[in-house]
Amino acid sequence: MRFVDIINKKKYGGQLSEEEIAGWIDGYVSGEIPDYQVSALLMAILFQGMTQEEILQLTMKMMHSGDVVDLSSIEGIKVDKHSTGGVGDKTTLVLGPLTAACGVKMAKMSGRGLGFTGGTIDKLESIRGFRTDLPRDAFIRQVNEIGIAVIGQSGNLVPADKKLYALRDVTGTVDSIPLIASSIMSKKLAAGSDVIVLDVKYGSGAFMKTPEEAVQLAQTMIDIGTGAGRKVRAVISSMEAPLGRAVGNALEVREAVETLAGRGPSDLKELCMTAGALILQEAGICRDTQEARQMLKEKTEDGSALEKLAQMVRAQGGDDEMIYDPALLPQAPAQTVITAEQSGWVTGISAMQIGRLAMQLGAGRARKDDVILPDVGIVLQVKPGSRVKAGDPLCIAYHRETPDVQWQKECREAFMIGQEAVKEPQLIYRII
Ligand code: URA
Repeated sequence: MRFVDIINKKKYGGQLSEEEIAGWIDGYVSGEIPDYQVSALLMAILFQGMTQEEILQLTMKMMHSGDVVDLSSIEGIKVDKHSTGGVGDKTTLVLGPLTAACGVKMAKMSGRGLGFTGGTIDKLESIRGFRTDLPRDAFIRQVNEIGIAVIGQSGNLVPADKKLYALRDVTGTVDSIPLIASSIMSKKLAAGSDVIVLDVKYGSGAFMKTPEEAVQLAQTMIDIGTGAGRKVRAVISSMEAPLGRAVGNALEVREAVETLAGRGPSDLKELCMTAGALILQEAGICRDTQEARQMLKEKTEDGSALEKLAQMVRAQGGDDEMIYDPALLPQAPAQTVITAEQSGWVTGISAMQIGRLAMQLGAGRARKDDVILPDVGIVLQVKPGSRVKAGDPLCIAYHRETPDVQWQKECREAFMIGQEAVKEPQLIYRII
């Protein structure tokens, strides 16, 4: 069959067969099918959608386009978590050590940040000496010994997604649920864990703008995982405002350390308790939510969750003194306080704006090869629901070069201030 026939079939709403999907992925990875034809097919999928059967076949074909990690030599149930991305999202840095301290085996491959969202690997690399490129056998040994390792994605994990994602990025075809779900799940399935807990975000700082869309994306990913024989659960959570208070690599590591020590911001703590409870139940460590939350609380209070992070940092060549004393983490040379111009209540904080402004300070990448500055970023001094007076600090920018007047204006505008009292917004919308 000519590829143009496949494009036309999807254009008129037809269902692609397994052979057609396989021909597409094989032909695209080998370079036989050009970008312009795949772009047309992606746009047809964006408008026509895909059936669950097509999505599962596409995901499996993408998963097998490169290396598939074999975790069978790790004893016990292996757990992975994935967040669909956001601003200030340091959940892995908390949830990984916290659940590992409860007995979970977490063999995690994480990504780098692009655009206004951060990446776990960039955050971990702000710890002096921390290695994210462990060889496969060292990775497996570490998970067996201490219960957790977090490394960067191997070069040949789902090459089909690397090519497709780069093309989607420049052809306006990112925001399609079948394409997002197959992209994420092909990588999660290839990474080999038995249990996958997804944190699917909605709001201004997320791909999905509404909670309903996030539920649809989560359900599509759960169906893929179940179809592939894995256990998948999802938390649907808000990304209208940044998560926690810190945005920027070393600043977020510091906040994760605070949270593991029981002192972190309440929204981050709540998300980690909710996702952590799902992980402990699905891994068979706890029977119900109450028992799981109790165990997570105990491991925070007795210091073993924080010790697990220090242990992981040591095992991966990092300076664990930075965990015991976060003041040793990279510190930006200067700070600028952004203050409120009027009194009132903070009705919202644009996650997308804060993420973009932190990126402009150097905390993130506008292009793939941009260099990250580990010490810069933004720390919120208020959260939605806070009351402020004119002149009160809204946030502190940590920087190398003082941000210009326009940056400071846009930063102030990221905080919506109203005249009526508002409650702290709900973070968790649903658990599936
Ligand atoms: N993250 C991914 O890995 N893929 C997408 O398509 C969107 C978010």
